[in-house]
Amino acid sequence: MTSILIKGGTVITAGQSMRADILQVDGVITKVGVVEEVADEIIHGVGYLVFPGLIDCHVHFREPGYEHKATMKSEAASARAGGVTCVCDMPNTKPPTTTITALSDKVRRAQEVTDCDIRFFFGVTSGIHLVTLKDLWTSNSEELQHFKKYCCGVKLYLDHSTGDQKIEEDLIDEVFLACAECKIPIIAHCEDPQINSDAKAANQINDVSAHSANRPSKSEAIAIKKAVALVRKYGTQFHVAHLSSKRGLEEVVKAKEEGLPVTCEVAPHHLLLSTLDYKTLGTLCKMNPPVRSVADNEALWQALEDGTVDCIATDHAPHTLAEKQEGNPLDAPSGVPGVETALPILLNRLKPERIYELMFANPNRIFNLGKEDLVIGSKANIVIVDPTIKKKIHAVDLHSKCDWTPFEGREVRGEVVRVL
Ligand code: DOR
Ligand code: ZN
Repeated sequence: MTSILIKGGTVITAGQSMRADILQVDGVITKVGVVEEVADEIIHGVGYLVFPGLIDCHVHFREPGYEHKATMKSEAASARAGGVTCVCDMPNTKPPTTTITALSDKVRRAQEVTDCDIRFFFGVTSGIHLVTLKDLWTSNSEELQHFKKYCCGVKLYLDHSTGDQKIEEDLIDEVFLACAECKIPIIAHCEDPQINSDAKAANQINDVSAHSANRPSKSEAIAIKKAVALVRKYGTQFHVAHLSSKRGLEEVVKAKEEGLPVTCEVAPHHLLLSTLDYKTLGTLCKMNPPVRSVADNEALWQALEDGTVDCIATDHAPHTLAEKQEGNPLDAPSGVPGVETALPILLNRLKPERIYELMFANPNRIFNLGKEDLVIGSKANIVIVDPTIKKKIHAVDLHSKCDWTPFEGREVRGEVVRVL
């Protein structure tokens, strides 16, 4: 039996935070409040924040197929170092997670990883995948029910991005209907293929900044609008991935005002980076959807603060530095890492209670992850954070296999002291 007592930390839970001791015995919380017991280890928590293990509902851990970029093991270590102990991994691996065989292989691999609880989105690009998905959700087979436990919903790419997982357009309606019937949450990459291809054809610029002009914010707004029309039609639970623009945000606000089951997430890179950063970062700030204007950054911060945004998700998407830097910049792969740096970036500007909602309570609810709060009987991971430490982000201190960060040199706040 191993017991750990955290004395005097500020425990962040639903409602309000409270000063409390926490006793954890063999991974289970047995006491919360004033705890006088002796324990094998005592952590002096005064001045520290104590969160339940955080959730990042949008990552690309690259395994299988792209282990030269990252592995579940390497990125799970990176997540944990950033206080994240549960992630939802995207289907654009090789093979893509569009079959039971691919899902079961990922589930098997994830069992080997102890740092992090890895769940998976199922991908749908053509009709056969939808048939499989319905089977996964409704079958009585014990085997399928087992795999379903690790599947947090469906990912749809409404336009091409890394991994070419764009859904066939005439299938979209059917997927929204099926997911409404089976109560499967949809998360979608919202960019409109027609608007993107028109913008690209019209664009004269040839450096990396063309990437933002080639994928304009109107494309995001229209894609969200079309998806919301299907939510209105069928009642599907719909989550907008990596919302990046003020225009896109306006569509989400309208849907929410209408009372539709629409939620959204924002990635730290769309809060901190803008088109101004192409000059210094080049392809290291190339991602989909692309960086926008400083006004877009501010609109997203505002929406985080006023409660419109439901989740922070990092879209952690490691590529090697060589892949990012060789060849024509516009052909460089899109995506940036971020799972380890989200928490200190947020602590710089948001209250811990809001971070708890954005990176625990809301993703937990939206994707039915079943993670537990810091209460008696809970097996939750416990993340202990010193919020007073100010530091700069440096890639050498991070754990992702890719070994770079678009936030190099940024001043942030807070350090993860321990994860239990
Ligand atoms: O920037 C991105 N990178 N956007 C995506 O949609 C995919 C991701 C990746 O897998 O690299
Ligand atoms: Zn992504």
